[in-house]
Amino acid sequence: MPQTVLITGTGRSYALGFNLVKRYLEHGDTVFASIRRPSEALEELQKEYSHTLHILTMDIASTESVNAAAKEAEKMTDALDLIINNATIASEDTMKELPDFDLDLIAPAVNVGAVGPIRVLKAFLPLLKKSRIGALVANISSEAGSIGRCYRTYYLDYATEKAALNMLTMTMRNYFKDDPNLNILCIHPGWIRTNPDNSEAPLDPYEHAETLRLLFETKRHDKESPVFITYTGEPYPW
Ligand SMILES: NC(=O)c1ccc[n+]([C@@H]2O[C@H](COP(=O)([O-])OP(=O)(O)OC[C@H]3O[C@@H](n4cnc5c(N)ncnc54)[C@H](OP(=O)(O)O)[C@@H]3O)[C@@H](O)[C@H]2O)c1
Repeated sequence: MPQTVLITGTGRSYALGFNLVKRYLEHGDTVFASIRRPSEALEELQKEYSHTLHILTMDIASTESVNAAAKEAEKMTDALDLIINNATIASEDTMKELPDFDLDLIAPAVNVGAVGPIRVLKAFLPLLKKSRIGALVANISSEAGSIGRCYRTYYLDYATEKAALNMLTMTMRNYFKDDPNLNILCIHPGWIRTNPDNSEAPLDPYEHAETLRLLFETKRHDKESPVFITYTGEPYPW
């Protein structure tokens, strides 16, 4: 049965969000793809999927912008079955260590990478509640957000936002624990070739998007297995 999906951070053709959009469209689903600035790649894709791809402008750092996007979506659909919170940010100092890192860059990163996904969940909750197949919220986290496995001396912004995202995901899992129609998880998606700096990464974004799509389908009603998982479905230490 076709579903309706919202994916954030989808404007870059080489990155994970755009490739997830492609996979869901190819599978016959309806996709709300959110961007914060115009994307030629997405506009090109919309020519092919004019009935099933809706482009939403949404800055997840802004409650006003997210609420406005949710209102826009409500004009086009009466339900949402899946949200993939994929958008994220890392500052220009992300590879620096304490002496050189501008600490004022951490809070804005947390606002995007951790608060942003929960802002999206809150604003789109009325649509999620109307899912006929049971809604899932998949927060794309990272191994970098694991406190137990932390070995780095950099990523002060990125690792903090992902750790905070994990905490918020667990808190939401607790909050919705008695709701049989809504599940939430966070996932380390693996090391993916999503930019020129990680060309040695083993995972191709288009191929890997399908792996994630198939995994998410097994998680819709699964409230028993671990909340923070890898792309193979294994638990990852918090
Ligand atoms: N690539 C990997 O190996 C890897 C490993 C572990 C985890 N992850 C996670 O996987 C996800 C996708 O990774 P990626 O490498 O494909 O990401 P990416 O290329 O960095 O793309 C992130 C997207 O988020 C958007 N974004 C940033 N700030 C935003 C805001 N305020 N509002 C709305 N959108 C915003 C960006 O939009 P603009 O295009 O407008 O800048 C961009 O499209 C991320 O959550 C990342 O942390 C990736």
